[in-house]
Amino acid sequence: MKNKEIHEECRQIWEELGPWWDASVAEGDDFHRAFVFPSIEKLLELKGGETILDAGCGNGALSRRMAKMGAEVFAVDFSTTLLKQAKERSQGITYEKMDLTDAVQLKKLAQSKQFDRIVCSMVLHDMPTLFPFFASLRSLLKPEGSFIFSIPHPCFNSPSIAFEPPGGVTVKTYNRPMTSKMRSKPGQPIEQLVFHRPLHDYFNALIAQGMVMSGFEEPCVDPKLLPENSLWALRPEIPPALITRWVFPTR
Ligand SMILES: C[S@@+](CC[C@H](N)C(=O)[O-])C[C@H]1O[C@@H](n2cnc3c(N)ncnc32)[C@H](O)[C@@H]1O
Repeated sequence: MKNKEIHEECRQIWEELGPWWDASVAEGDDFHRAFVFPSIEKLLELKGGETILDAGCGNGALSRRMAKMGAEVFAVDFSTTLLKQAKERSQGITYEKMDLTDAVQLKKLAQSKQFDRIVCSMVLHDMPTLFPFFASLRSLLKPEGSFIFSIPHPCFNSPSIAFEPPGGVTVKTYNRPMTSKMRSKPGQPIEQLVFHRPLHDYFNALIAQGMVMSGFEEPCVDPKLLPENSLWALRPEIPPALITRWVFPTR
């Protein structure tokens, strides 16, 4: 399949998933609350008044949390159904349609805005290419700004993981990028495209842009905080997500 067709298929899937995603996530589901929000908010180090780009905002659950902490949030997504849900649930947040794989749209945004923080939560593994977005970070961030992203942990929570033995996972493959179709959450009505990449692909792509890592979290939570017998409550020593922060050191 050609790149353009893959991009279009991703967009159509997220158009279709929008109403289900909004209903099931609302202000954050168990996974967000247990593994994603606490680490992102730790690495954000918000004091109030920061400008934040929420890149791939979904229904805006994280945007609203950051706005409540006093940030000025500009949020983008390429799914019109999710943007509609986000707008209905939010006040005081600007939402715009944008494709994070489109260099022209990214350049246009950077010509009008720079941000103290760029957050991209659970989105990069949904994108067939990272380069246009990573290449735009220098122009989208203020000099002291930081980029924070979360992804399903590529070592322990990828399409090639088997949830066995009890308490653990089995890694079948890791080192090679792989495109799969899967349902990421229970009850998901259709499959989505998922782009597995080994960690070095993410990290080396940001290092190539001149960035350095300034924060790294691999959250494991108390199983009592998750529904009994849920996949991750049964694997309390394994982090299903990682969250990391990047900056430009020399500016
Ligand atoms: C797994 S959801 C995460 C949403 C939200 N960040 C959260 O954590 O709840 C992935 C989101 O990324 C968006 N997305 C995927 N690829 C995108 C792209 N190329 N440009 C903009 N948004 C994209 C989808 O529409 C969807 O809202």
